[in-house]
Amino acid sequence: MSLPSPTLHTARLSLRPFDDADADDLFALQSNAYVLRYWDSPPWSERARSERFITACRKMAEEGTGARLAVDRLSDGVFLGWCSLNSWNPDLRSASLGYCFNEAAWGHGYATEAARALLGWAFDTLDLNRVQAEADTRNLGSARVLEKLGFVREGTLREDCIVNGDVSDSWVYGLLRREWREEAVVNRFAWAIPGRLPCGMTSHLFALSFDAHDPGRLARFWAGVLDRKLAGDGVTVLPSSDLGFPIRFLLTQAEKTGPNQMHFDLTSASPEDMQQTVARALELGGRHLDIGQGPEIPHVVLADPEGNEFCVIEPDNNFLADTDVIGALSSDGSQQVGYFWSEALSWPLVWDQDEETAIQSPLGGSKISWGGPPVNPKTGKNRLVLELAADGDQQAEVDRLVSLGATRVEGELDEDGRVPMLDADGNEFWVLAPR
Ligand SMILES: CC(C)(COP(=O)(O)OP(=O)(O)OC[C@H]1O[C@@H](n2cnc3c(N)ncnc32)[C@H](O)[C@@H]1OP(=O)(O)O)[C@@H](O)C(=O)NCCC(=O)NCCS
Repeated sequence: MSLPSPTLHTARLSLRPFDDADADDLFALQSNAYVLRYWDSPPWSERARSERFITACRKMAEEGTGARLAVDRLSDGVFLGWCSLNSWNPDLRSASLGYCFNEAAWGHGYATEAARALLGWAFDTLDLNRVQAEADTRNLGSARVLEKLGFVREGTLREDCIVNGDVSDSWVYGLLRREWREEAVVNRFAWAIPGRLPCGMTSHLFALSFDAHDPGRLARFWAGVLDRKLAGDGVTVLPSSDLGFPIRFLLTQAEKTGPNQMHFDLTSASPEDMQQTVARALELGGRHLDIGQGPEIPHVVLADPEGNEFCVIEPDNNFLADTDVIGALSSDGSQQVGYFWSEALSWPLVWDQDEETAIQSPLGGSKISWGGPPVNPKTGKNRLVLELAADGDQQAEVDRLVSLGATRVEGELDEDGRVPMLDADGNEFWVLAPR
């Protein structure tokens, strides 16, 4: 089974499949004796090794044994090194991590940032339970990278390497899926400490607003389907945990003019749970929807009482594993808009392939995904709109979002002090003052 190598983006880096044009940079890296001083084999002496390495990367993807990705710096496109997830064993749900970076790039957190993105992709898409890594016991920089990522040192492999007669020990490190989630939580709190704020982490998803002809009725429908509580105002569905977001139903007179740009993909824990969700939705006033999906698709397409589309997804759906009842806010949108929202919310890209993108908070919860081209032309104001709350100065956050590609809609702030904006695809969103 093949495993197409992904392209991933972080705040400062791009991780992408290797290309033949990388051969010279790769040879310069792997022939450097100082960089390779703790490696488990001697530095390369022939350039042909580069071509063999790049061929091996393609073979890994073809045979589905892992992903080895070149890492470039986004600001200047310079090749910094590579990061790999190899020896993927779907039965044991395990894989190994490796990386090598140019000396000039050391000490800037690049190895940790790249490995974190690759691990995020791997834990999300490969259903991994364990990732293993080894480091020469003298390689304190590599040990530190692993510890920053949440790996636990499990033991020492004594005299496991002999390179040019030099005998050395290695530490073995392991990272379990549950520890990865915990690491994300700790990391999130570290970001909240002034001075440790990564660039871009200056607003958070505060709520989703949902236009409705009858806000109270629609709020009751969704509270029932999602099994969530209604706030005292009768028009806000509260989240069931800190990972969720409130859904605020707002009165509109506007008619629905076409399929919504965004819809919910609801997850199911089992076939019975899936049936119960569908039954609950129909009982509360929802209906089946035929969008030409055909009988073979495993999910169920429904509409709420005002015709807003949503899907109930079958259990064991890999993409939505470890999300929430709302597994994804599945959206029509370009790759560019996925990149924009990744930067805007500081949510890493957990999917970026064939111009389809998805992001998720480092803490977990619902994903937001975009299907890529062709993007449907917009036929009116979107009924589902994201509301961000600035973490600091509201105007500074608006300026930052503009610098990322958003547009500020001219006009007064509304009575809640929300700034209306449009993302790179022209979808409405709001920026609220800090709260
Ligand atoms: C190991 C390596 C990947 C680190 O890359 P990097 O981009 O410098 O890593 P980061 O900046 O993300 O993190 C390095 C951390 O190690 C620390 N570190 C570096 N050298 C250290 C040393 N000699 N002693 C203690 N800590 C050290 C840094 O201070 C930093 O920790 P901090 O963020 O807490 O300050 C890089 O040196 C490399 O590619 N080496 C050659 C290949 C290699 O050894 N690969 C690993 C094989 S197991």
